[in-house]
Amino acid sequence: MTTRPARARTRQVALAGMLAERGLLSPQWRAVWEQTPRHHFVPDPAWRQLRRGCEPVTGRERMDLIYSDEPVVTQLDNGEPDGPGIATSSNSMPSMVARQLDALDVRPGHRVLEIGTATGYVAALLCRRVGERNVFSVEIDGVLAARARANLDRAGLSPTLRVADGETGLSAHAPYDRILSTCALREVPHSLARQLAPGGVLVAPMTDVFYGGATVRLTRQDNGNLSGRFFHGASYMPMRSHRLEKPGPPDTSTARRRETDTAPERLHPLGFALYGSARLPGVRMTHGFHQGVRTVWLQDEHGSAAVAGGGTVTVYGPRDLWAEAEEVETEYTALGRPDTTSFGLTITPHGHHLWLHTPTEPLPARSRRSPAG
Ligand SMILES: C[S@@+](CC[C@H](N)C(=O)[O-])C[C@H]1O[C@@H](n2cnc3c(N)ncnc32)[C@H](O)[C@@H]1O
Repeated sequence: MTTRPARARTRQVALAGMLAERGLLSPQWRAVWEQTPRHHFVPDPAWRQLRRGCEPVTGRERMDLIYSDEPVVTQLDNGEPDGPGIATSSNSMPSMVARQLDALDVRPGHRVLEIGTATGYVAALLCRRVGERNVFSVEIDGVLAARARANLDRAGLSPTLRVADGETGLSAHAPYDRILSTCALREVPHSLARQLAPGGVLVAPMTDVFYGGATVRLTRQDNGNLSGRFFHGASYMPMRSHRLEKPGPPDTSTARRRETDTAPERLHPLGFALYGSARLPGVRMTHGFHQGVRTVWLQDEHGSAAVAGGGTVTVYGPRDLWAEAEEVETEYTALGRPDTTSFGLTITPHGHHLWLHTPTEPLPARSRRSPAG
């Protein structure tokens, strides 16, 4: 270890203080964070996540990254050498972790299942809050799980760790009062939902081709369904089997360009993205900049696409995705542009549905008009 213990402790106390000042830590959680130095759970090498890939960090820069409110990437390409450099494991962004743990609303003695052990940091925080014999954590990658075990051993903590696919939870120790997924889910697997005790809470970052990432807090109802609201945007690595496929190329032979009054910013709020995910299922939305101009890209799996920015849009393929998105944006505006927490999810044995305001108002997919020429 390259850092003197007193200096590391000061930095950890400062990190916890920053989270507490932002209202993200209760006094109990603050004490737990102060006792749990983040750098004890970050291996070498580690990487900083940039917009276009990951860059290695070493020495002082590495410690500065660890003691900032940034994720620290701890594995690329599932650990395979010579890959494209895609982040596949990390020690998550502290403010995201704090928000998730706050939403989990754990009490001493609660039995908690974590999906995605990675570095073991969240497992360590949970051990210090609910007691190590109440913490269970599964990681799909055996190398990462072994490293987490070593990190936790060094911290003197022994939660139950298993190398397993979190898609099916950890039935041997169910039911759990709380389930926390620290990898993003496209939908909550029902096998996992069933392992929650009655009245129990599941917190998970959700991901979709339209909205990227949003965290949801679901409670198990008397009928066995889970239901609850989204509470914050969150960009987490997806569960391995929930990774989003890149759609094929658009049909560029059918490009049509026109002016548009709808600025990409209108489609940017997470509330709109949640609404749109229900209304335009299967359509991918991505925001960014193209040649310095704020741009939004829409694409489906059958060659239709739209690229809008700077007052013009180009559409491709049989669907006019931009016209469809504009209609959905008009609906969203007519509803008063509801924010993230106005939306929720219900999970039943038959699937999941997204709702607005109350679970009795599920949002249906928009009916598709006949293909535009
Ligand atoms: C963002 S990291 C979790 C951070 C972690 N909680 C920590 O404290 O360091 C996500 C982890 O989920 C793991 N993962 C992905 N799919 C999984 C699955 N199906 N079951 C269990 N773990 C999975 C990844 O290997 C990765 O290590």
